[in-house]
Amino acid sequence: PHFPSHNITWHPSLTRHERNQLRRQRGFTVWFTGLSASGKSTVATALEQHLLHIGLAAYRLDGDNVRFGLNKDLGFSEKDRNENIRRIAEACFRPPSSVAKLFADSSTIAITSFISPYRADRQIARDLHATASQAGDDPLPFIEVFVDVPLEEAEKRDPKGLYKKARAGEIKDFTGISAPYEAPESPEITIRTDQLSVEECVRKIVNYLAEKGLIT
Ligand code: PPS
Repeated sequence: PHFPSHNITWHPSLTRHERNQLRRQRGFTVWFTGLSASGKSTVATALEQHLLHIGLAAYRLDGDNVRFGLNKDLGFSEKDRNENIRRIAEACFRPPSSVAKLFADSSTIAITSFISPYRADRQIARDLHATASQAGDDPLPFIEVFVDVPLEEAEKRDPKGLYKKARAGEIKDFTGISAPYEAPESPEITIRTDQLSVEECVRKIVNYLAEKGLIT
């Protein structure tokens, strides 16, 4: 990679393993993906609260919220969405990064809820987690959660009235209507928010994390 400033030195610190041991917690990322109004933010918030209640450090990054600040310069063209997801993946993990909060690498559970409609972008996020930030680092676990609801269901919910506007041609590039959503082919977890309650969705995710030894 090209670094415009070249007199810089990478300062080694504790390895991921050492940091996890000291914090008695493993850092990893739970990456939600799904249509607008699929229930990503609702389930992600409930998962964050559950993890905090059982004493684990967890922090949620959410599409709408991040677009108020860090990513306020980005819209919804394919290029802007690519950049949105790249920055979030970096924020979750990757040093040396332009973003200060490197959650999963700091033994925190990063929970992201972005539509993240492009398979290639989610693959980039996954690949970033597999990379060591310094010698001796293990890969960071990346758990993709597909919030799977039929488009008709999301459109029926329409909590922000965005589908209605998109159908009326008032919003361009709207996911599922005038912009693509590429469903994951092999997500670690799939949840159907039209068939399970929020609590059941959280339970399914928590059971998976416990089975994999990521939380105790
Ligand atoms: S993406 O595709 O991952 O970059 O999108 P994300 O950052 O998650 O932002 C999605 C939220 O932005 C609102 N919104 C739109 N969504 C999709 N398409 C278009 N054109 C659009 N314009 C605004 C919408 O509130 C999304 O929130 P959620 O929570 O997904 O409904």
